[in-house]
Amino acid sequence: MIHIRMMTLDDYDAVIALMNMTPGISIRDADSREATARYLARNPGMSFVAQTDSGLCACVMCGHDGRRGYLQHLLVLPDYRGQNIANRLVQRCLSALETLGIEKCHLDVLKTNHPAAEFWQHQGWKLRTDIDRYSFTRPGKDNA
Ligand SMILES: CC(C)(COP(=O)(O)OP(=O)(O)OC[C@H]1O[C@@H](n2cnc3c(N)ncnc32)[C@H](O)[C@@H]1OP(=O)(O)O)[C@@H](O)C(=O)NCCC(=O)NCCS
Repeated sequence: MIHIRMMTLDDYDAVIALMNMTPGISIRDADSREATARYLARNPGMSFVAQTDSGLCACVMCGHDGRRGYLQHLLVLPDYRGQNIANRLVQRCLSALETLGIEKCHLDVLKTNHPAAEFWQHQGWKLRTDIDRYSFTRPGKDNA
């Protein structure tokens, strides 16, 4: 039985373990326990995990800046794929955003992650070709 529920900081170690097991997901300093605690506190009820009898099999994190939603770290363990778990997790995030009046959400996909690109397009997400993303990183903080 798979149960989707809100992610809490108690799930941190298990979520990082899922991320470590999953090619295509990058872990940054911004995924530290402290940063994740801040993220969950700033974005309550927007990040979710899928719980099985033996532990977590999937997760997603979502937040917003008041205008737009941002979704990250969607992953489902290989043995559990193809059961609509990712779709259910994403819908929970989009519903949480919609409750706040936020009707647009962005996400980043590594250019090398072709299956993820296909997944998002299959789900109706549009690849932006009209904008380039620019990021500024503090000198010496290359893994920020
Ligand atoms: C991408 C991922 C999250 C999909 O998880 P999943 O639980 O198997 O997906 P779902 O079962 O919810 O699939 C929902 C729909 O997307 C389709 N789909 C799933 N993976 C797909 C893929 N790689 N390409 C195209 N469509 C895909 C399913 O067929 C299903 O379609 P339907 O609604 O028409 O039946 C999973 O493969 C994964 O964890 N990948 C590695 C991590 C990753 O790359 N995450 C994205 C980072 S941006």
